[in-house]
Amino acid sequence: MNPRRIFWACLKKVLFLFDAERVHVFAVHVLKLFQICSPRIGYSPIRILSGASDPCLEEAEESLRVHVMGMDFISPIGLAAGFDKDAEIVQTLPHLGFGFAEIGTVTPLPQPGNERPRLFRDPAENALFNSMGFNGLGAAVVAGNLAHGRSLLPSDFRVGVNIGKNKQTPLEKAPLDYARAASFFEGLADYLVINVSSPNTPGLRQLQTSESLKPIIEAVLSVVKTWPARPPVLLKLAPELDDAALDHLIQTMEASGMGGWVLTNTLGGQFRDRSGGWSGAPLTELSRARLLKVRSLTRLPIISVGGIMDPEEALLRLDSGADLIQIYTGWIYRGLGFPAEIGRKLRREL
Ligand SMILES: Cc1cc2nc3c(=O)[nH]c(=O)nc-3n(C[C@H](O)[C@H](O)[C@H](O)COP(=O)(O)O)c2cc1C
Repeated sequence: MNPRRIFWACLKKVLFLFDAERVHVFAVHVLKLFQICSPRIGYSPIRILSGASDPCLEEAEESLRVHVMGMDFISPIGLAAGFDKDAEIVQTLPHLGFGFAEIGTVTPLPQPGNERPRLFRDPAENALFNSMGFNGLGAAVVAGNLAHGRSLLPSDFRVGVNIGKNKQTPLEKAPLDYARAASFFEGLADYLVINVSSPNTPGLRQLQTSESLKPIIEAVLSVVKTWPARPPVLLKLAPELDDAALDHLIQTMEASGMGGWVLTNTLGGQFRDRSGGWSGAPLTELSRARLLKVRSLTRLPIISVGGIMDPEEALLRLDSGADLIQIYTGWIYRGLGFPAEIGRKLRREL
């Protein structure tokens, strides 16, 4: 076994002894610390720890480049929404082997999210369960963080901004919230994602109908159309939508000017006495099936996310028609080196 793998296997054993959200907050602090230290010491320790500095991967960077939504991406491997909700560590992500990142979900106003504990691991199932509820600092602060992060990022590292509505906003006023959240990210977002698929904001998933979505998309497009560089606007959907619902949504929504699909969010369910969403291995087949279905219906770009737990699955998603892929739970279970591991696999196979 390679020493990096052994190191991460031991570290994971220790970290998994503690509450999942506390470990997440701790990990973000550590990554921020590395962010501050790296320029002073002249090299990036996390680049070495994550394997992103391996010579074969650095050479491979050119070959992993993809052109999607009219932009170049350093690689098709991205960090999914929900990990860096407030754009606190975005400038560290290229050093970890990511080619792009999606920050958020960002709501117009700050909000605390649901009661803790709200993030759990299920190692037997290689899964996470969360009921976070769009906790975040709000669009004004996140836009400030992102402006700072972007000034330190390579210009070809892409950042998507995933937007949502505040819990207190009634569903009929949702278009105003999405437009307001978007309005903070002029010149900062390479693409926007309308998130109507979180199971943790009451009623949100009811917005996954063309009647509800059209005014939301129109409101967001009316904001971005005034910007000199207009980012594409994508829609993130739940894995529960069946073939008939997807058929209808794709037929009706694509005429409204949207720029692609993000498939999928977490799988709604219960854990202990809570409602929330499952991610990781329980999503693998469902998320892959949704990708295949939507790819058979559209030529628009698709970001495939959900249950990518090994490099083979990452390759399979790209072979099944995904333009880009994202990981979250797989990163937690496989360790810091997972994006670089996927990068090496893609380099060999593509
Ligand atoms: C703790 C946690 C928080 C998340 N928060 C968000 C979020 O704010 N917005 C969003 O669109 N998706 C969110 N997600 C969903 C992920 O972006 C992704 O769609 C899902 O976890 C499936 O991918 P995975 O199996 O690789 O984790 C979250 C997932 C987790 C585990």
